[in-house]
Amino acid sequence: MDRIRIRGGRPLSGEITVGGAKNAALPLMVAGLLTDDRLILSNVPRLADIQTMSQLLEQHGIAVDFVTNDGRTLSLGGAITNTEAPYDIVRKMRASVLVLGPLLARVGEARVSLPGGCAIGTRPVDLHLKGLEQMGARFNLANGYIDGKVDGRLRGAAIVFPFVSVGATENLLMAASVADGRTVLANAAREPEIGDLAACLVAMGARIEGIGSDTLTIDGIAKLHGAEHAIIPDRIETGSYACAAAISGGSVFLRGARLDHLGATVRILREAGVDIVEELNGLTIRRLNGLHGADVMTEPYPGFPTDMQAQFMALMSVAEGASMVTETIFENRFMHVPELNRMGARINVHGASAIVRGVPGLSGAPVMATDLRASLSLILAGLAAKGETIVNRVYHLDRGYEAVEQKLAACGVDIERISG
Ligand code: EPZ
Repeated sequence: MDRIRIRGGRPLSGEITVGGAKNAALPLMVAGLLTDDRLILSNVPRLADIQTMSQLLEQHGIAVDFVTNDGRTLSLGGAITNTEAPYDIVRKMRASVLVLGPLLARVGEARVSLPGGCAIGTRPVDLHLKGLEQMGARFNLANGYIDGKVDGRLRGAAIVFPFVSVGATENLLMAASVADGRTVLANAAREPEIGDLAACLVAMGARIEGIGSDTLTIDGIAKLHGAEHAIIPDRIETGSYACAAAISGGSVFLRGARLDHLGATVRILREAGVDIVEELNGLTIRRLNGLHGADVMTEPYPGFPTDMQAQFMALMSVAEGASMVTETIFENRFMHVPELNRMGARINVHGASAIVRGVPGLSGAPVMATDLRASLSLILAGLAAKGETIVNRVYHLDRGYEAVEQKLAACGVDIERISG
């Protein structure tokens, strides 16, 4: 298993290009199931999860071809020949469950492995199933699989989500685009990735109102046609490297980053002492003076993202004063805490909240990555720590961050990947 070694203490200085958003690219690739025409996606990040999604769609009958040699433009096309999403793929990537709605909408049946839990929580999919049932699907759950069937076409329905779910919103938005009649999704997720998916579906001929709001109205049509779509930049990668610049006391230009996608992250980082300046085609991130403790509660967009919680906690571990970090989205997303504490952080967890008491400095140590965003938080701590930090199990990192060591090394960081 690969490891990453960092020798801390150097302030970042230079430029990092922000890649396409992983959490937009995955549902956008699934949209390839909704048409027999070609769907061309550009600005695709080169990540393990993208490979896994390609594998999943290929076994459904959708050809996934990289049309440029930089591997950042995908062409998806073909007819659905298989409606089963097998356990050995789904267990690697929970976003596989997004094929459920499109398969039911297009061919009236789907057999999708239950994703099961993951490190950060049980991650149920009941909202996906309940919404599709309201549209006429019937499900049988047995042997770890979801067996879905529809007599005829899915029908439009008025669906109110009891709480915000990104995946359930995406699954039902795609299904509703080719259902019979009108669907209203109330209390829908408003993450920029939903807006990007909706924009692509509209380019494919879908009829969607309320994009960007918490109420989406979709008038289903029989078939969607092909389209070309450029994926939005990754706001979590942006926030992660903003924390890297801040924790190292450096200054970085994040090329392609969009301030308008960062929601509450901007206010919270500025409150903590991070200087964020919007430029023509990106953001300049600097730390002018010391960092100060700031309280944060994770919330659905435009609130502070749960996917930024671990990174922010690493930043607050070396701030002046204390910071209260409350995780409201997932039930087990503090696994980075014991690892950060091994590096000298002073973090106490009480239920869904953690109190972070800033310390003057961290010390390098061997640490264990437990999930995607926790991996990045340990790298951030390594940037600030005195001495050497070895981050183990970086396969977690490779699922969602492209070329981290290259991007940081280009900004002066002493970092390398140790294979094997
Ligand atoms: C998406 O996951 C993201 N993944 C996650 O990013 C992100 O943390 C999450 O949204 C929240 O923003 C992708 O987009 C591929 P949810 P998703 O449905 O859709 C519960 C990363 O690091 N829930 O919004 O699975 C669920 O357990 C990943 O890039 C149900 O109870 O998240 C959670 O507590 C991690 N029943 C909460 O809702 C359901 O049917 C929010 O989950 C669905 C969700």
